[in-house]
Amino acid sequence: MRKDIKTTEAIFPMPVLMVATYNEDGSIDVMNAAWGTMLSRNQVILNLTETHKTVKNVKARKAFTVSIADTAHITEADYFGVVSGNSTPDKFAKSGLTAEKSGKVDAPVINEFPLCMECEFIRYLGGEY
Ligand SMILES: Cc1cc2nc3c(=O)[nH]c(=O)nc-3n(C[C@H](O)[C@H](O)[C@H](O)COP(=O)(O)O)c2cc1C
Repeated sequence: MRKDIKTTEAIFPMPVLMVATYNEDGSIDVMNAAWGTMLSRNQVILNLTETHKTVKNVKARKAFTVSIADTAHITEADYFGVVSGNSTPDKFAKSGLTAEKSGKVDAPVINEFPLCMECEFIRYLGGEY
């Protein structure tokens, strides 16, 4: 017999994506995003709260990277999801991780994460959906 479990995260597990951007001064910000997936073979879609520092950076730089974290960096990955670059400008520096500039887009590539997608910003949907 089927059970009504109400509205929930029905498609699970959700990925833990590390979204990396440059701040205005060239320092780095990284946030943790579970609400994201592939939109097509060469596009990702992320559901990001507009007030996050990351969103401001993406709109300003028109670029971001999305890395897949590994279990060796679970502490840093969690940290990126609970501290905001809005209140902690040196958020990334405090993580102890390292990065280099992407050769493809205006965004950082985190060296310690094994897989990185270098992304051009297309658009922010805001209240359109
Ligand atoms: C496991 C986890 C998943 C998260 N997923 C999302 C998400 O999909 N979208 C979002 O807007 N915030 C998400 N957050 C919250 C942001 O990562 C968090 O608010 C972060 O501090 C924003 O950083 P920023 O202001 O430096 O961009 C998540 C946090 C955690 C711990």
